[in-house]
Amino acid sequence: MKVLVPETEIQAAIAKLAGEIHAQYQDRPLTVLGVLTGSVILLADLIRQIELPLRVGLLQASSYRGATTTAGDFVINPDFIPDIANRDVLLLDDILDTGQTLTRILEQVQTLKPRSIRTAVLLWKHERTTFEVQPDYHCFRIPDEFVVGYGLDYDDHYRNLPYIATLDDEDIAATGN
Ligand code: XMP
Repeated sequence: MKVLVPETEIQAAIAKLAGEIHAQYQDRPLTVLGVLTGSVILLADLIRQIELPLRVGLLQASSYRGATTTAGDFVINPDFIPDIANRDVLLLDDILDTGQTLTRILEQVQTLKPRSIRTAVLLWKHERTTFEVQPDYHCFRIPDEFVVGYGLDYDDHYRNLPYIATLDDEDIAATGN
């Protein structure tokens, strides 16, 4: 395993991000929506540093292949989202790669008529972003390498690492794959 972003740097970046969010929203109430599952560690660390009236929701995105819709339609599960009509929303994800996921989620969240919506990601693989989306906030730009840790997974392993790392063959073997 090779550490790409150490824990101390992540924590410093999150403190800085919390400061930027305060400056943006002042004392206005904010609804933070974390995209499952990768954003949960970031969500937990970030919201404890935001001293605003705050609500939290979780959002699961998936490609819906029902008989009555076009194959591959993208849907979000609204079950764990509080009402965001006319609210300021901050959408939180672990990583922006091609930008497809964030683009599709933004389209869906817009249909819930928030007053404003901004996006924050921990990592941005900017060289790979082909969709016309940019995060309003990001903590680190990283090169085009597969990374795990701090919420990001390899086959649901390694989310619990407090740092961001790339994997060796033996790390992959250790997962039983
Ligand atoms: P797109 O291309 O839609 O991808 O921007 C975003 C989603 O892809 C996953 N992803 C990764 N997951 N390590 C991971 O564990 C990575 O290096 C990586 N790159 C992309 C992630 O689920 C993200 O939400």
